[in-house]
Amino acid sequence: MDTQLLEKTASELVAAGKGILAADESNGTMSNRLEAVGVSASPETRNAYRANLFSANGYEKFISGVILFDETIRQKMPDGRPIPDALTSLGVYPGIKVDIGAKNLANHEGEKITEGLDGLRERCEEYFSMGARFAKWRAVIEIGDEKPSDACISTNAHALARYASICQEQGLVPIIEPEVLMAGIHDAETCYEVTSSILQATFEQCQIQGVHIPGALLKPNMIIAGNSCPEQISREKVAQMTVDCLTEHVPNDLPGIVFLSGGQSDEDATAHLNLMNSMTINHPWQLSYSFGRALLANALKTWATGDNEGSQSVFLHRSKMNSLARTGDWNSELENK
Ligand code: 13P
Repeated sequence: MDTQLLEKTASELVAAGKGILAADESNGTMSNRLEAVGVSASPETRNAYRANLFSANGYEKFISGVILFDETIRQKMPDGRPIPDALTSLGVYPGIKVDIGAKNLANHEGEKITEGLDGLRERCEEYFSMGARFAKWRAVIEIGDEKPSDACISTNAHALARYASICQEQGLVPIIEPEVLMAGIHDAETCYEVTSSILQATFEQCQIQGVHIPGALLKPNMIIAGNSCPEQISREKVAQMTVDCLTEHVPNDLPGIVFLSGGQSDEDATAHLNLMNSMTINHPWQLSYSFGRALLANALKTWATGDNEGSQSVFLHRSKMNSLARTGDWNSELENK
């Protein structure tokens, strides 16, 4: 394992003022999102939408890496350059989603196990040769009646650690993403407990399997009440509970935590990150972003109207707002400037 390369990549992915763009929606998800804004989905439209984002002027000031899907890492920019080469030439790390999706967990109705370990070593080798320097694997944990089960927690934690270990062997920094979903009527305390149990189990498995923590990143959810819970908590409380939960379960030698947005509004996601980075305590890890929807939802809507430059401006604006949240320098008035 090239620990020096992994540590360098991981620390540059969470460099000051920068975060990650998650543009790795699977073909199914990206197609649904395109159709929802009235664009017919095809490899060409998915390519055109993403190539337009990757052509935005100056986004590399705010974005350290972009997570791609298998289709996208093989596609080209309008000038014919392979997408990973175009990103690399701007100093933006190409990343790759390497799981093959969340499948039904046997004997546990309504629960999921993320698959993709078979052949992973060979796929990582190929992605590295195409320019990828980091990877993502997303486990999905749902809260509900009797959920999550111990089986769901332990199998997903085990798979995350095995994935991380294989990626590191192949020179890719693993983003370890155990996502506790926002959907549901559960309160924030329940989200805290479930997030605690998956983080605990995941880092235990990482230790057993020899994952090099200084060469990895964690991509967790924030601690939030379920979206159908009548008792929502304040932004300040979200920030505090999230930091408390991470402090309890995340090793100090992890270089960075890059949050997912998970369906929060653009501004909530930014505000929560900003509050965490405004605290007087010094966190042992960088607190950053690896947002999908909170960086792109409005950029996609604008692109669908045919306004390429408008879409780039929306993406640049959200990237800048989140970059400011890295240092606690965001405020809501900046949203309208
Ligand atoms: P969201 O920020 O839209 O949750 O996407 C991040 C991601 O990559 C989920 O796997």
